[in-house]
Amino acid sequence: MFRAFILASFVAFSAGAAVAAAPQGTEDLDTLRSLYQRPTAIPFPEDAPYSPQLATLGKMLFFDPRLSGAKNMNCASCHNPSFGYEAPVELAVGGLNERLSRHAPTTLNMAWVEPLFWDGRAASLEEQAAGPITAPAEMNGKFEEIIETLSAIPTYRTWFERLFPNRGISVDTILVAIATYERTIVSGWSPFDRWVDGDETAMSESEINGFRLFNGRANCAGCHSGWNFTDNEFHDIGLFTADIGRAGIERGPLRNRHAFKTPGLRDLTYRAPFMHNGSIADLEGVIMHYESGGIERPSRSAEMQAFELTDEERGDLLAFLRALTAEVSDTPVPNLPN
Ligand code: HEC
Ligand code: HEC
Repeated sequence: MFRAFILASFVAFSAGAAVAAAPQGTEDLDTLRSLYQRPTAIPFPEDAPYSPQLATLGKMLFFDPRLSGAKNMNCASCHNPSFGYEAPVELAVGGLNERLSRHAPTTLNMAWVEPLFWDGRAASLEEQAAGPITAPAEMNGKFEEIIETLSAIPTYRTWFERLFPNRGISVDTILVAIATYERTIVSGWSPFDRWVDGDETAMSESEINGFRLFNGRANCAGCHSGWNFTDNEFHDIGLFTADIGRAGIERGPLRNRHAFKTPGLRDLTYRAPFMHNGSIADLEGVIMHYESGGIERPSRSAEMQAFELTDEERGDLLAFLRALTAEVSDTPVPNLPN
């Protein structure tokens, strides 16, 4: 009975929207693979088109501690490229050396993620970036002072004037520049991407079996869907937490309680600890959590059902998750102008 149910749900998912009833076997796998193709271009909004100069300017600002009140902290303090654009601590620590209430999420692949924050309270990257700069517990910056500081630096003045004629250095232009750079932070090619692209040798048997489990019995793809492995929706996955998450922004539906935005799963190897509160130390712990189904409560997602893996299957799923990490990560840190 149990097995029949599992099989049915696997077929239902892998068939997807386009194909009515994909047969079992290799074709099944091909259908699944096709759902994970990398996009060929980064989407930029019409009012903030890409230019290499603008992205470079934004990158300097992302790494510039002069945006913070005590000049001691930049965006990369908490979104560090060495740690998958996160900070390797449970709860992020701000410029006053105080813990924030949540773990820093990755800023990888943000061009495809909306809304922003664990609870989705910012609609765009531009809107999002204003938050940490001015929040007293984070960078504690004041835009008037930041604009004054940047205006005293000839390189910044020149670039802002060139890229934003008649606008120069302002709150808006600072935020657009940072957001444009953030859209260029894209996770690199991983063994999984090469495999999706047709290189049959790019993933091992074990990793491929992990991919099957991810889409099948373990039901990870119920929420971690597509090439960036997120549906950009909010779910309560039954973690022990006092944080009400999405319900703090949108009270309505019961399912919003303790619901957080599904994070993408790229470059996980560098991103521990995990979850909105950093409460799970490693990927083994993450898998154990999902096997248990999490805490049963009215808000918990219906997609969260306990299941059991053998040791071998657990190893396969883990191997697959690790195969989502880029083979080469190359993030030169910019020189900051004086
Ligand atoms: C003190 C640590 C800290 C600093 C500094 C910081 N952030 Fe964050 N960032 C966080 C935390 C914590 C969150 C999650 C907060 C939440 O969801 O409530 C976050 C969330 C984000 C998100 C949303 C990611 C998502 O998946 O929705 C983006 C984008 C981001 N930060 C960019 C930036 C930028 C740009 C800067 C610099 C201007 C910056 N951060 C500075 C800690 C920090
Ligand atoms: C019901 C939707 C749902 C399902 C099913 C699901 N996840 Fe998640 N996943 C989430 C959400 C939402 C979060 C963030 C939860 C939080 O922090 O409270 C998350 C977080 C994670 C994280 C931590 C990422 C980070 O940045 O901290 C990993 C790793 C992960 N999931 C892997 C998996 C795996 C593997 C499976 C299958 C065994 C799975 N997920 C099934 C929704 C889901």
